[in-house]
Amino acid sequence: MTDKPAVYVTRELPGDAVERLRRAASVRVWPEELPPPRDVLLREAVAADGLLALLTDRIDAELLDAAPRLRVVSNVAVGYDNIDVAEATRRAVLVTNTPGILTDTTADFAFALLMAAARRVVEADRYTRQGRWKTWGPQVLLGQDVHGACLGIVGLGGVGLEVAKRARGFGMRILYQDHRRRPREERRYGLLHTELDQLLREADFVSLHVPLTDDTRHLIGERELSLMKPTAVLVNTARGPVVDQRALYRFLKERRIAAAALDVTEVEPIPMDDPLLTLDNVIIAPHIASASVSTRSRMASVAADNLLAALRGEEPPHCVNRQALRRWRRRWASAAP
Ligand code: DGY
Repeated sequence: MTDKPAVYVTRELPGDAVERLRRAASVRVWPEELPPPRDVLLREAVAADGLLALLTDRIDAELLDAAPRLRVVSNVAVGYDNIDVAEATRRAVLVTNTPGILTDTTADFAFALLMAAARRVVEADRYTRQGRWKTWGPQVLLGQDVHGACLGIVGLGGVGLEVAKRARGFGMRILYQDHRRRPREERRYGLLHTELDQLLREADFVSLHVPLTDDTRHLIGERELSLMKPTAVLVNTARGPVVDQRALYRFLKERRIAAAALDVTEVEPIPMDDPLLTLDNVIIAPHIASASVSTRSRMASVAADNLLAALRGEEPPHCVNRQALRRWRRRWASAAP
């Protein structure tokens, strides 16, 4: 028996996050590459005071009901659409995330995808490996210029703004759509605020940077795609369901837009029989925009900080449901070690 709080970690993590947790808690870690199956997660939740979860773990009412001791769910991600925050709040369970850390790394990757789709980098590699490189051809693998083109950023949060900064280096004209105007950034980085429809009509590249909410689900569907130029490229490093993937497939297949580059898909992993995988003009990465050694280690470390603070009975640095704090304090103060 131990009087340390019990923590369940749903995957092995880079860096020293788990080691740090072990100093303060009795920690169990799911050791496999794939996420813990639902029955394992439900079973492990029973004794857990804290859960270090990933965006692949569904934390819903059923799981919260199975976890009577749970004080905190610490997500190793900035997004937390895998967690039913309302249900957690109702049970005075804190939910935390890791904001700010992946901003630059994700913007780098969004720009890498944009460049790769524009200049057909992935197709070019396939072409070479398939032995199709017979000569220098004046018409081989022609793509779109990035420099001087118009970029439309949908959602000017941290990542969107960093993408804009990178685009300035390429002399791009930058439009953005966001529910709030950012006059200081507009002046500083030469951004132009527009409505979504205008942005879609004018942009050569559209990059999505909105969280997934009821309002943004299928934000880019048939109607929106039909506003885009036939030469336009869509980049999504946000969340898959922000784009209606069936509509996207039709538009790419019929070349009504030129290309897409996705780090996220509506279902993850994308099923191998998804028709998108039959197309050459789409790049699909396995949700790795934040996957640099240093960023992933820092995300794990901040998630550990959040969790440890909650187990000490302190407000975690990045709590997404602060409205639960008062009841959480009342409920758990006596249980804190
Ligand atoms: C996040 O943190 O929400 C990202 O999608 C993980 O890469």
